[in-house]
Amino acid sequence: MVNGMFEGNPFQDALRFERRIPPCAVVIFGANGDLTKRKLMPALYRLAFERRMPLGYVIYGNSRTPMSDEQFREKMKRAVKEFLEASPFDEELWGEFARTLFYVAGDLHQPHFYETLATRLQAHEAHTSGNVLFYLSTQPSHYQAVVAGLHAAGLATGSGWRRVVVEKPFGYDLKSAKALNSALQAVFPESSIYRIDHYLGKETVQNILAFRFANGIFEPLWNRRYVNHVQITAAESIGVEGRGSYYQESGALRDMIQNHLLQVLATVAMEPSAVFEPTAVRDERAKLLRSIRIPKESEVPNYAVAGQYGPGRVGNQEIAGFRQEPGVDPESQTDTYAAVKFQIDNWRWAGVPFYVRTGKRLPKRVTDIAIQFNAAPLSLFSNDDGDPYLARPNLLILRIQPEEGISLRFFSKVPGGGMRLRPVSMDFNYGSSFGVRTPTAYETLLLDALVGDPTLYTRQDMVEASWAAVEPILNYWASQKFDFPNYEAGSWGPKAADELLARDGHRWRRP
Ligand code: BG6
Repeated sequence: MVNGMFEGNPFQDALRFERRIPPCAVVIFGANGDLTKRKLMPALYRLAFERRMPLGYVIYGNSRTPMSDEQFREKMKRAVKEFLEASPFDEELWGEFARTLFYVAGDLHQPHFYETLATRLQAHEAHTSGNVLFYLSTQPSHYQAVVAGLHAAGLATGSGWRRVVVEKPFGYDLKSAKALNSALQAVFPESSIYRIDHYLGKETVQNILAFRFANGIFEPLWNRRYVNHVQITAAESIGVEGRGSYYQESGALRDMIQNHLLQVLATVAMEPSAVFEPTAVRDERAKLLRSIRIPKESEVPNYAVAGQYGPGRVGNQEIAGFRQEPGVDPESQTDTYAAVKFQIDNWRWAGVPFYVRTGKRLPKRVTDIAIQFNAAPLSLFSNDDGDPYLARPNLLILRIQPEEGISLRFFSKVPGGGMRLRPVSMDFNYGSSFGVRTPTAYETLLLDALVGDPTLYTRQDMVEASWAAVEPILNYWASQKFDFPNYEAGSWGPKAADELLARDGHRWRRP
């Protein structure tokens, strides 16, 4: 049980099933930033559009830039119009929604700012019952100052609940993640800290649990006896999109693998939880993350490959190399591609490699998980062209984006005389099966935080375990001088990544 929620409490049960948000205020720190425009405000607007927001809610934005409430509302209107995904913009509803938006400028390092904020929030308490969700979407270097400021102004506790959502990156390495955890926990109890990883809010990632644990036919095969290896791919065709100076310090391993893809891996590989309840589910994820083998630094070249793109073409477009991007050092040693072979040391997965790769400026945007099953124990039929890859036809692909669905590949007889075989696919497609708009990850996760359900948020132990799993790689890479660039924009990454799999007799799929 987390935070007194869900267990045997009829009121909480109602929240769980109807997911109705209690009266509250939302305060966004970093409201002038990209995330607020692209993701947070469209998600909040959408929750209001679906009539999920409670009566009397208020949303406060903060940044250093002076702005009136009216100017903030206009800015947010433009953002919502531009970034609302697959749903209509409704002028009338916007008018209603805009009246709930307020803005308070201020320097996060000045105590005075928090006092002003406290006074402003107090004025709404009759409607919000004193419930407040603080959303940290500033530069991470301000996080500690914000929680300390909230504490000093008495905002971390109050007549209602107080929760804090923390955006990624959650630390820069294990040490800084631990320091951030301590700073947060000095002010808020762990049960009020919501560390967001938007991949966990994606419908298709949540569906992995339904697929595995609501069906009887897959789970018996989901282990080292039947699974040969697993490939997790998150390819992006975009580059660093004006985030050169952030990305230059981060790199692909920190930006995507330490958080998003290790959470996806944990979802694919975790044990079923005894009940579908926040602590139980998060315990299983955490346990899995702690079972990932931590390589010695000297072994890193056997497990991980770094890449950086040089100039090339994506589609018909000429693309500059990473080192030519604004804000990027012309000698940059940052990885824009990373491939890692993870080993899970538990009874279910011992000996089954999980290959994870991600990169910018790859040929297309695609995120998927491929579970490669072992071959039939005996081959009675010869296949079409003797390709050893085809000798293992049974592949299950969980497609996260953009074409959400699931495919199962198996051998079929080619019509006609003789026993010629060819792999064919059985496909499930989300869009055509349900025909409804799926909520964005931020809608799902904001709703969860507002109703007090942390199931899809990461916990201190998970974050620390996933930093521990990549730390030797980060340290080893930091000590190297790479011969970058080593892949062309628009290609599938460096040759060394192919060699990583070839050493085990495998090869990357071309999604
Ligand atoms: C973010 C990374 O967390 O995830 C970005 O910082 C990346 O670099 C993005 O592009 C990918 O998210 P999605 O939802 O588009 O796959």
